Amino acid sequence: MADSRERPHVLMMSEITADGKLTLKKGTSSKILMKYMSHETELLLHQTRAGCDAIMVGSNTIKIDNSFLTVRYVTGKSPLRVIPCSMADIPLASNVLGPEAPTVIGVSRKAPEERVQAIRDKGVHVVVAGEDRVDLPLLMQLLWKDFGVRRLMVEGGPTLNWHMLHHQLVNEIRLIHLPFIVGGADTPSLVGGMQIGSEDEMIRLGLKNFYLCGTNLVTEYDVQYRNATE
Ligand SMILES: NC(=O)c1ccc[n+]([C@@H]2O[C@H](COP(=O)([O-])OP(=O)(O)OC[C@H]3O[C@@H](n4cnc5c(N)ncnc54)[C@H](OP(=O)(O)O)[C@@H]3O)[C@@H](O)[C@H]2O)c1
Repeated sequence: MADSRERPHVLMMSEITADGKLTLKKGTSSKILMKYMSHETELLLHQTRAGCDAIMVGSNTIKIDNSFLTVRYVTGKSPLRVIPCSMADIPLASNVLGPEAPTVIGVSRKAPEERVQAIRDKGVHVVVAGEDRVDLPLLMQLLWKDFGVRRLMVEGGPTLNWHMLHHQLVNEIRLIHLPFIVGGADTPSLVGGMQIGSEDEMIRLGLKNFYLCGTNLVTEYDVQYRNATE
């Protein structure tokens, strides 16, 4: 059985508005907001990608944003792209399935074989982790063991962010603050998922750095889980 400590160090990085939102409204691409990042911050984002072995986003972000997840604004190697997608229903025309960088699609055992094969036919790795849904702790161990991933960056969206935090898989958070308020009760925010039952379940963060990058405030936190085993 795999050693649970053998998983990548995980940095969650996101652009958020002053009211904690990730997009203009539900169902829209974050690329609209990202246009308002300063150039220096775009460089920071791409430097961070280049400094990681892998980058992961949720399958819904791929469906909405059709991201490339490559390093473009700085010199450096694009990281391995990782997309958890339980039923392997990622559109086959997705940019992330293109040849610009290697990609791993994490699927569950329920994923239909023909969809898995269609993804493999594009030269993309498919990793089965989990029964009904992608088992994120297992996926982290497989990335460590089979793909040599030691440092992983998670770039959202809120559903994946919540599951990664819920499983205590995130070590650090870096936020790029955009000076806007967009509002909207159901507009995606940094973390979605389930409501917590009480203050005991709050995940505590330790602020470790803050600075201006171009015109954007950047904040950096360590994640301090209660009952953490390591
Ligand atoms: N501002 C930013 O920095 C930023 C960054 C990224 C995204 N976004 C925005 O976020 C929005 C999308 O967020 P979202 O919350 O709807 O989706 P998401 O977090 O991108 O993707 C969630 C999907 O991932 C799949 N998944 C597979 N295994 C999972 C697991 N174990 N745990 C969690 N998810 C798993 C699930 O689909 P299956 O059940 O089909 O597997 C799930 O519905 C978009 O509007 C996008 O623009 C913003």
